[in-house]
Amino acid sequence: MSQTPKRYTITAALPYANGPIHIGHLAGCYLPADIYARYQRLNHREVAFMCGSDEHGVAITIKAKKEGVTPQEIVDKYHVMMQDSLRQFGISFDHYSRTSSPTHKQTAQDFFKNLYDKGEFLEKTTQQYFDEEAQQFLADRYIEGTCPKCGYEHAYGDQCESCGTSLSPTELINPVSKLSGNQPVLRDTTHWFLALDRHTEWLKKWIVEGHKSDWKSNVYGQCKSWLEAGEGLQPRSMTRDLDWGVPVPVEGADGKVLYVWFDAPIGYISATREWAEQNHKDWEPFWMEKDTKLVHFIGKDNIVFHCIIFPAILKTHGAYILPDNVPANEFLNLEGQKISTSRNWAVWLHEYLEDFSNKQDVLRYVLCATAPETKDNDFTWKDFQQRNNSELVAIYGNFVNRVLVLMDKYYSGVVPQMGACTAVDTETLAEIQKYPQRIGDKIEAYKFRDGLQELMNLARLGNKYLADEEPWKTIKTDPQRAATVLAIAAQIAGALSVLSEPFMPFVADSLRNMLNLEPQDWSLANMPLLPANHQMGKANLLFDKVEDVAIAAQLEKLEAQKALPSVAPANAIPEAKENIAFDDFQKMDLRVAVVLEAERVKKTDKLIKLTVNTGLDTRTVVSGIAQWYTPEELVGKRVVLLANLAPRKIKGIESQGMILLGEDHQGNAALVEPDTTLLPGACIS
Ligand code: 2FM
Ligand code: ZN
Repeated sequence: MSQTPKRYTITAALPYANGPIHIGHLAGCYLPADIYARYQRLNHREVAFMCGSDEHGVAITIKAKKEGVTPQEIVDKYHVMMQDSLRQFGISFDHYSRTSSPTHKQTAQDFFKNLYDKGEFLEKTTQQYFDEEAQQFLADRYIEGTCPKCGYEHAYGDQCESCGTSLSPTELINPVSKLSGNQPVLRDTTHWFLALDRHTEWLKKWIVEGHKSDWKSNVYGQCKSWLEAGEGLQPRSMTRDLDWGVPVPVEGADGKVLYVWFDAPIGYISATREWAEQNHKDWEPFWMEKDTKLVHFIGKDNIVFHCIIFPAILKTHGAYILPDNVPANEFLNLEGQKISTSRNWAVWLHEYLEDFSNKQDVLRYVLCATAPETKDNDFTWKDFQQRNNSELVAIYGNFVNRVLVLMDKYYSGVVPQMGACTAVDTETLAEIQKYPQRIGDKIEAYKFRDGLQELMNLARLGNKYLADEEPWKTIKTDPQRAATVLAIAAQIAGALSVLSEPFMPFVADSLRNMLNLEPQDWSLANMPLLPANHQMGKANLLFDKVEDVAIAAQLEKLEAQKALPSVAPANAIPEAKENIAFDDFQKMDLRVAVVLEAERVKKTDKLIKLTVNTGLDTRTVVSGIAQWYTPEELVGKRVVLLANLAPRKIKGIESQGMILLGEDHQGNAALVEPDTTLLPGACIS
């Protein structure tokens, strides 16, 4: 934005209230948003940092059904839990709301009516899949079937994860409802489509031309490819058939609610209204004044709807400003695997605190240092330990501790008067002065990892200065020199206490207590904060070592997770199929085969090409198992092969048969492995 912002509206994606918060959430958007908000506040800028629970959506109703409780019970439970976890990790929202609030219902419905009256919606009746048993229309992700392009049998209604093709549910061959396991039927339904096609041109100008250099490349790239796709933007439905959510406020819309693309981002506005009301402020300037800087922090799965759909909604309304930036992060994996709530492959914040109490900032530090800012990244417990022990303990903690201990030992904790400065002292003082700007520039550019690196460089500078100047030696030979060095080292500790605040607020607070320092403005960190005669507080350890046993325990916990049989809720297990004649079964040539070779099929995520010995011959089979097995693991395995399945081409490779695989409703899958006494060629009957 060209003018200096007068106020900041900072939003963080509303998390769905259907599970606890894990490290992926924290690294993806809450931590960067919090660093940014804290930094702006330290600079005395007016900030509204908004978030809340997203309590709507089909996933919540399905979870409720599975657990045999009401959706309200689910959201009530998780709203409290999520809010609590985020607060415990120091995420400093000014307001944390929930989309079930009356203010939100009114705000979202008013917005919808405003656009409706302007003729921005196209009312369209289309056919959609309906699950007759569950008595509901099916969201795209709740329909699975065979991909018409590559033959992968578990393609979703919106995309085939094997070949990457975008699909619509009606393109799937043999569609199956993931709710009941039944074949869904097509039914007419009417929805309201936002005429996005009318917005392609200005959005192109605004993003493709206007934000090439200030939006992150991952965000810019995704928007550009959407905007420049051959057919341009298409109308998108803003409503869904569901009985849980904000009702669509027009006649004839019974049983329809606002879709997340419309509902959730308006939640930011509703939250701001509630906050303003509670604090006797006007909310409008935070959303309508040109000198407000609006920044949305989100994960990469929400890029399109915050950069394209929500701005189109705001623009059409007319009274609102547009986001200045949408610094979306990519995904964080855990120990090399995608974080998965259903497989419990995650580090949950509330569990972390049980195991590492009072170490919130260690996790904040590690997640910021390894944040998936421009590409997916991996969290590993080994790295966590290493960063704690060799960076926080060995560099930051060590420096602060040395300053405090020496100051206490030689001067009873009172900052001594400085003597004449050497060239090194002057250089060091000049260097300290650069850090507020240096770190601030990185934060302003949403480069939080780099900002944190700079903070650690300041601690490194302190360590090196002490190691080079050796006040513990000069105290005996030249006490004036030792006094100068320790007085300068104290200024570094003072600066660290201010500049750490956005990244590690708990540590900053402890450090301030140890230094006996009041909270300071960011800009003051370039001044000597601890004048001569200042009485310091008591030294405490800021960090302590994370031992091998603690890491082993975390890894074991994850390992146990892998081995845990997933208990599928009874109503999620597909119903029994119809009886078949014995003769039908006999038609299948099921036999034991052994895998001789295995390799990934290029440009696919799921497929592996196997060469198997069937006892009769050696043949090729393509199987969608790369998600669960590496090629190396497969070689030598005995498998069950449906040997007389008509050959078919998958990704250009002729597959001669099918390997049997079991998959449960929580997504766990494993090969059916015959007893090793059976030799290849053995028939299964
Ligand atoms: O994807 C999600 O997690 C949704 N709850 C929407 C988050 S973004 C939003 F709040 F706009
Ligand atoms: Zn496919």
